[in-house]
Amino acid sequence: MKRTYSVAPMMGRTDSQFRYLIRLLSKKTILFTEMIHSNAILYGNKNKLEEYNENENPIVLQLGGNNPDSLAEVSKIANLFNYDEINLNLGCPSPRVSKGGFGAALMNHPELVCDCLNAIKENFNKEVSVKIRLGTDNNDIDETLDKFVEKIESCKIEVFYVHARKAILKGLSPKQNREIPPLNYERVKKLKEDHPNLKIIINGGIKKLSFLQDNNLQNLDGIMIGREAYSNPLIFKDADNRIESKLDKGISLYEITQEMFDYFETLENTSHVKRGLIHMHGLFNGHTEAKKIRILLSNSVYLQKAKNKILSILEKSINEAA
Ligand SMILES: Cc1cc2nc3c(=O)[nH]c(=O)nc-3n(C[C@H](O)[C@H](O)[C@H](O)COP(=O)(O)O)c2cc1C
Repeated sequence: MKRTYSVAPMMGRTDSQFRYLIRLLSKKTILFTEMIHSNAILYGNKNKLEEYNENENPIVLQLGGNNPDSLAEVSKIANLFNYDEINLNLGCPSPRVSKGGFGAALMNHPELVCDCLNAIKENFNKEVSVKIRLGTDNNDIDETLDKFVEKIESCKIEVFYVHARKAILKGLSPKQNREIPPLNYERVKKLKEDHPNLKIIINGGIKKLSFLQDNNLQNLDGIMIGREAYSNPLIFKDADNRIESKLDKGISLYEITQEMFDYFETLENTSHVKRGLIHMHGLFNGHTEAKKIRILLSNSVYLQKAKNKILSILEKSINEAA
């Protein structure tokens, strides 16, 4: 699987409706599910695993958890679905997650991480990867990161998505943990230099597909974009062209809007439609009529009316630009 571009897993955002939108823009970008805890699948909503669209691959299932037996069980079940990879979340700094002993807190327990990863590997037929931070709290990055990565590498994991900052597990909220610990792209570059056999995908604060070239980080294997993907999904319009060195015109905003509304008609669950409408907001970032369009997107009852109105606004702006 080529990991040039990935959309980062985001709870409350990278559900199947948002992934549908990104897939309209790019067929090659790797998509992630939101993190799902192994127990939520085993003892809760098994249907969660079914929530993806046809032709959505490449898609990665992100799991949270720290119990090798539960992770093994879920990995067996995951084989019944069409996921290309399972990713273990070792980067989430939320207090609830840390209290449960999974996410970034697991970076302090490399042995247990290996047990978890072995359990997944032994039971899942395809690739297994991790999403990590550079370290946690006061741990010295140079001392702990290499040891951690070497340990994970020793259990035959080759794909690392690296959020290029530490997680501060005490005192910072998840939002602050995405902003306050400084980004350290150079450290990720060094990680790849020290472990050339690993696939290292960098994450954190990236806003452009040209990020690796712009920052002299071409030795890395790909980029993962989170918040910018959500607030400005159109950046992925050029992804396939860049991967395949092509110059296709790509899908227009008008066509995406049409396709999204056609897709909503196929959804039975109105809460999925509502979520899909909200996910469309970022498409209109910077559009002169963005405010008007967002109001129209907040109405999930008169879908046909909203669709027609938005399309006529877009048509008008296309004509004005011509
Ligand atoms: C709303 C939100 C939810 C997130 N949920 C997850 C998650 O479920 N799993 C995960 O590994 N990271 C999660 N993250 C972190 C992102 O995957 C990513 O590592 C982080 O936002 C930094 O990348 P960015 O600067 O491109 O946004 C979340 C981030 C946001 C903003």
